[in-house]
Amino acid sequence: MSDSTRPEIIRYDPFAGPPRINGARRIGIRPGTELIHAMAGTGSRPITWTVEGLPATLAVDAAGIVRGHAPQTPGTHEMRVRASNTEGSTDAVVQLHVGSTLALTPPMGWNSWNVYADAVDAETILRSARAIVDTGMRDLGYQYVNIDDHWHAPERNPDGTPAADPRAFPDGIGALADQLHAAGLKLGIYSDAAEKTCGNCFGGLAHERIDAETYAAWGVDYLKYDYCHAPRDAATAIERYGAMGDALAHSGRSIVYSACEWGGRRPWTWAPEAGAALWRTTWDIFDTFGAGRLGVKGIARRNLGLGRHAGPGHWNDPDMLLVGNHGRGRATGTLRAPFSGNWRPKLWSFRGLTDVEAHTHVTLWAMMAAPLLASHDLSESDPYDLALLTNPEVVAIDQDPLGHQARVVEQSRHGWILEKRLAGGGVAVSLTNMGRRPRTLSITGERLGLRGDEEVFDAWTHEVQRSHPRITAHLPAHGSALLVIH
Ligand code: GLA
Repeated sequence: MSDSTRPEIIRYDPFAGPPRINGARRIGIRPGTELIHAMAGTGSRPITWTVEGLPATLAVDAAGIVRGHAPQTPGTHEMRVRASNTEGSTDAVVQLHVGSTLALTPPMGWNSWNVYADAVDAETILRSARAIVDTGMRDLGYQYVNIDDHWHAPERNPDGTPAADPRAFPDGIGALADQLHAAGLKLGIYSDAAEKTCGNCFGGLAHERIDAETYAAWGVDYLKYDYCHAPRDAATAIERYGAMGDALAHSGRSIVYSACEWGGRRPWTWAPEAGAALWRTTWDIFDTFGAGRLGVKGIARRNLGLGRHAGPGHWNDPDMLLVGNHGRGRATGTLRAPFSGNWRPKLWSFRGLTDVEAHTHVTLWAMMAAPLLASHDLSESDPYDLALLTNPEVVAIDQDPLGHQARVVEQSRHGWILEKRLAGGGVAVSLTNMGRRPRTLSITGERLGLRGDEEVFDAWTHEVQRSHPRITAHLPAHGSALLVIH
């Protein structure tokens, strides 16, 4: 699908050299609830781990997976983490915040929807989970494996508990969660704040308690709660999302809550209070760069205006990543009427993103502190697509503990220049050519508050340059540069 030169990112191999600690530096967990957390690290393999400062209720194995239960008392614990390989060792402090806030950095993982839509089963989920481990994505911090719509049996059980499709999930969701947890991964599930989901499976309305309890008993770690078949007004949405948020908070498990009402009722003003750690800000993304509100550009534009609502534990969600689908995703490759589901007439087909556009997609999502949820067939990732998802510097910008969403420094029809403040005083800057011809974009260091003698680090290529009075990037059509300045 590439009609343009591949940006030079593939030269960087995250799995060579001395160890590097990736992933969240701040982890939120509810008091007394189960913790399963795989420390994430790249560099040449194998990497061995030690963690000091763990509360007595937690233990770590040699693979760096921390397991156990959070202490009962709210508070912060500093875990002193060391990763070692044959080429050296490195240390980091990872904070464990025991309290009511989860997702202190944007969730990372994978979701079944973009690629598989309604064709989802246990085998597909397990294959994806294995691929997260085998490709090294887990070593960057990808940890949630989320089943989207269509996991459901035709009906709930007679006692009202939710039931999975017995053909697609013959051993049930709990058995699947156990297998994921054994690999240091987490399981996500999907429901809807109405009687039915977007795919017409049973929804969660009036079953919030029993659903949250069952999810907790299954070992579910993440819930995406959709809004098809629900009334349009905001008051009802606030009430319905609040009911599920409350049920999850009392479920006895730390379940990250993702609200998905597509931004129509300004969820950024009420979703945190409803208990949601993230909320969709836009309609579904489709596998195209332009196409008005449907593609990467339109979605990013809308999400960008909402930066002040983002921060640790509450994130704007501009939808999942398209990377790796190349127009073939069952949900994102075609537009059907209405937009969800696969049984409706096809209105439009998308060819997918070019390599340059996919590079820009990940650049913008990292700058916007967006959740990084891949959603393609992970067992067949192209090396270039995998490199887009596994660049430690880029992931670190997304996961920066400050939780700042980039602000717009300059935005015109041809170019966007964004700035994201980083913990420790640095800034990340992205320059994106939104035009259809190659173009040079530049910005003065002064506008970014720089002195002019700082080191400018290219997050994609890992090259270092000195900053000039102007920071300049020569960019192909739809191409981006992503720079870090300390
Ligand atoms: C809606 C959501 C999508 C997906 C589908 C499932 O369209 O926005 O992300 O979950 O429903 O049917």
